[in-house]
Amino acid sequence: MQENINHPETILWLRNLSKTYRSREGEVEALSNLCLKIAQGEIIGILGPNGAGKTTAVKLIMGFIKASRGEIFFKEKELQPAQARPLFGYLPESFRPNPNLSVGEYIRMQNNLAGPATTGTRRVESATQITTLLHQVGMAPFAGRRISRLSKGMGQRVGLAQALAGSPELMILDEPTSGLDPIGKSEVIDLLLTLKKEGKTILFCSHILAEVERLCDRIGIIVGGRLRFLGKVDDFLALHQAHDLDQAFKKEVKCAIS
Ligand SMILES: Nc1ncnc2c1ncn2[C@@H]1O[C@H](COP(=O)(O)OP(=O)(O)O)[C@@H](O)[C@H]1O
Ligand SMILES: [Mg+2]
Repeated sequence: MQENINHPETILWLRNLSKTYRSREGEVEALSNLCLKIAQGEIIGILGPNGAGKTTAVKLIMGFIKASRGEIFFKEKELQPAQARPLFGYLPESFRPNPNLSVGEYIRMQNNLAGPATTGTRRVESATQITTLLHQVGMAPFAGRRISRLSKGMGQRVGLAQALAGSPELMILDEPTSGLDPIGKSEVIDLLLTLKKEGKTILFCSHILAEVERLCDRIGIIVGGRLRFLGKVDDFLALHQAHDLDQAFKKEVKCAIS
């Protein structure tokens, strides 16, 4: 990809993004000079062990925290921290919706917050949007069910539905399959694959490797706040002469900390 932000395909550009947390206990450099461009329609997975800096990167992208250095561009515009990102859909690492609401009530609320979606110039009715969101994540039959009575996998689906509210151009998902059993994981990955086919641009992070192979156009490997690799899964395997991602990842982490 060219360096120019005007490249038509680039939707998000992180330039030398760095974050140092400062507290009474001292300083933690959680992210150092992260450079990353995401193209329209791409799914990119940011992989790294716990504490690698993945959530920090996500929070910077979402504007929840302020970068120590570096810039974030969405399309042509530089984004400021604390500035609303109406075109971004977001699934936080710990997604905890109000357990007393029904799925339908919760999605209606999120949909109202996200603002009206449009098809061409026509405004889509709110009820239609809610039905579409529930269908998209396979939760339409459970619209009346209380959130407190959902399985973890169903809860993540609700999380993805709220991230899809308002038809975002970019989805930022922090560990979308964390805490799910193998079936739940597989269901969420299938759902992300469907979204990919629909042309959504998705950045997600994960410390689980197996899932990214069939999902991502490119992966970024981050260890100790530094991006160690960015490219296709096959190229990462070749680099480490590894048969699977798990093996290559272990080699990379070992190499990073030695
Ligand atoms: N608010 C904070 N204050 C101080 N240190 C933090 C804070 N948030 C995260 N960190 C530290 O920054 C590093 C990266 O954390 P994080 O981005 O949550 O990693 P990951 O999501 O990859 O597990 C870790 O060492 C973590 O302890
Ligand atoms: Mg995290």
